[in-house]
Amino acid sequence: MRTQVVIIGAGPAGLTLGRLLERAGIDAVILERRSADYVLGRIRAGVLEQSSVELLDEIGVGERMRKEGIPHDGVELSFDGDMLRIDFQDLIGRKVMIYGQTEVTKDLMDARAASGAVTIYKAGDVSLHDFGGASPKVRYVKDGVSREIACDFIAGCDGSHGVSRSSVPEDAVQTFERVYPFGWLGVLVDKPPVADELIYAHHQRGFALCSMRSHTRSRYYVQVDAGEKVEAWPDGRFWDELRARLNPDVAERLQTGPSIEKSIAPLRSLVAEPLRFGRLFLAGDAAHIVPPTGAKGLNMAFHDVRILAEALIEHYAEKSDAGIDAYSSRVLARTWKTERFSWWMTSLLHTFPETGPFGRRIQRAEFDYLASSRAAQESLAENYTGLPG
Ligand code: APR
Ligand code: PHB
Repeated sequence: MRTQVVIIGAGPAGLTLGRLLERAGIDAVILERRSADYVLGRIRAGVLEQSSVELLDEIGVGERMRKEGIPHDGVELSFDGDMLRIDFQDLIGRKVMIYGQTEVTKDLMDARAASGAVTIYKAGDVSLHDFGGASPKVRYVKDGVSREIACDFIAGCDGSHGVSRSSVPEDAVQTFERVYPFGWLGVLVDKPPVADELIYAHHQRGFALCSMRSHTRSRYYVQVDAGEKVEAWPDGRFWDELRARLNPDVAERLQTGPSIEKSIAPLRSLVAEPLRFGRLFLAGDAAHIVPPTGAKGLNMAFHDVRILAEALIEHYAEKSDAGIDAYSSRVLARTWKTERFSWWMTSLLHTFPETGPFGRRIQRAEFDYLASSRAAQESLAENYTGLPG
């Protein structure tokens, strides 16, 4: 088989890139290790920046999001129970959209299926070849048979544990990483959200987040030590811990019920440099990871693939490689700013075993400064709703 671009991974990055290329008349095949149902079963964040909303509209998959998504004008922060609302709309005239990553993925998958573009699910043993030269190839195994696709370019959209980044020679790529000494224990529940907007809470017992998927389905998180096991957290313990970390009035309003999903996600920051290796590009989680504080992962993936699609379109339509040559530096420039914001929100809101009383006073000062400074709030709003290009 031959195609123009092989995309590895059918997460949001791969599917969105596929859609952008398809609309530009560029052929692409997506190879995904898992089944479509497995991909849709993964529960992830659900906050879309304004530019992500616009991108989904632009590529013709925004209809359900516009109907079922919930626009939010701001978020609430809570510090040891003291509440502070950050009003994006008033501060900078922007907003975000609450719409789960699972739904975004489903809409993209449906659009791709309707268009007839090729996605090969359950593709095993994917391997990348000759991307340093002019004729890259990707091999994989499907139904026990080995196959090969010849292509012009490979897009590594295969997430943090994918094969693309690890196919690059070790001395050609540098990774910058920070592992946090805690994770988030998340619970999904069919109860209305405790508040109209998200609440990010710092408490001396640890961080907590009140989020939502719809007006009837809520998503809550509490910070737990690295190494904690889900089995140690029956629903009752989770709800008690969450309530203890919230403002008492909020805690009283919390509606609890049986969890319909419960899992622990570790927190990590990681950036790979560079993001282009000959005819191989990394995008999305394959290129960088952020801790979920600030919900930037999905939005970063959208940003990467928009730039990558532009570069590939320029290559085919204008016979210019300027965009391809600039891909890595363009993406990295924005990536590091978003990494900084995710790290900053994580640092403000979590308890760190090593910081001690001095570190806690600094966190309190940061919160008080935010509460008293419109400039500081504007900075938060600008980053949360998404930095420009
Ligand atoms: N071969 C083929 N597919 C693979 C391989 C492989 N060797 N390894 C991983 N994949 C697939 C995964 O099964 C997954 O479906 O690549 C896909 C990567 O999707 P995501 O992990 O969702 O990453 P991405 O598309 O970059 O989306 C970024 O999703 O993971 C969240 O926090 C992240 O919100 C961010 C967004
Ligand atoms: C979520 O709803 O799962 C969510 C929301 C905001 C975050 C992280 C996760 O910052």
